[in-house]
Amino acid sequence: MTKPTPTEIGQGYDDFADLLDQLWGDNLHHGYWDDASDGASLDEATNRLTGELAGMLAIEPGDRLLDIGCGVGEPVIRLGRTHEITGVGVSISKRQVERAGDRAAAAGLADRLSFQYADAMALPFPDESFDIVWALESLHHMPDRWHVIRQAARVLRPGGRLAIGDFLLRSDHGSGADAAARVDLVREGVLKIVDLDEYLSRIREAGLVPETAEDVSDHTRPSWSKSAEIFAAVRDRAEQYIGARQFERTLSNFRQLSDAPMVGYVLLTARKPA
Ligand SMILES: C[S@@+](CC[C@H](N)C(=O)[O-])C[C@H]1O[C@@H](n2cnc3c(N)ncnc32)[C@H](O)[C@@H]1O
Repeated sequence: MTKPTPTEIGQGYDDFADLLDQLWGDNLHHGYWDDASDGASLDEATNRLTGELAGMLAIEPGDRLLDIGCGVGEPVIRLGRTHEITGVGVSISKRQVERAGDRAAAAGLADRLSFQYADAMALPFPDESFDIVWALESLHHMPDRWHVIRQAARVLRPGGRLAIGDFLLRSDHGSGADAAARVDLVREGVLKIVDLDEYLSRIREAGLVPETAEDVSDHTRPSWSKSAEIFAAVRDRAEQYIGARQFERTLSNFRQLSDAPMVGYVLLTARKPA
């Protein structure tokens, strides 16, 4: 399966911006539920995931944060409110950048937060210019996530921290042809995931020191079936945007992924040596 280029990904987010707004709202990432009895809405659960990752960083008021793949800006706007950070969000979608800027202005945070169109494969920032680099569910889109992590290491100041939320290959692959096909789907196809050992060693190769790595797969997994439910409920509208074939393919991916224990989710942080 060929991975779309950054330009194609940005075009996709631009083209489907209205649909994504209606489907997922302000956060374009997975939710976090405590357990099966947790009745949190998608909105509450996605904000919670932001809070979980932020809780792993000792964020100080005034810290300068770069959000790689910022969506419509909700995570960084939230951190602007809760932790009084200053920051820049970058996205490969022009519409997202525009919306994020409007949303920050509406929240009264335009003096501290800005957004710009940029490809994370070539971050347009000087060396050592951020206290925190944050990438929540964006690295799986990148042609080479390790290159982006090396870029993150470059723009972090010594002592600065990297925070990542990303998909993860877990050891529970299951067996048989069906399981093998699912591993291919996520490994080589839509997500390109690796296991935690490889993830951590790539972070070390980038010159960063891993600090925390929390496998939150059991908390985030309901996101796939909720995505399938939400998507199926707007079939007619979604088909107008993406066509019947792409709709079926996406729905089938969500359903397969909701029943794929090998597809996990990790929150991790790392520090650039001082
Ligand atoms: C699943 S969304 C996550 C958005 C946001 N982090 C959030 O949590 O709501 C993925 C984001 O990655 C961005 N992205 C994908 N490839 C990119 C690239 N090469 N450079 C910059 N942003 C990219 C997309 O434009 C989108 O904003």
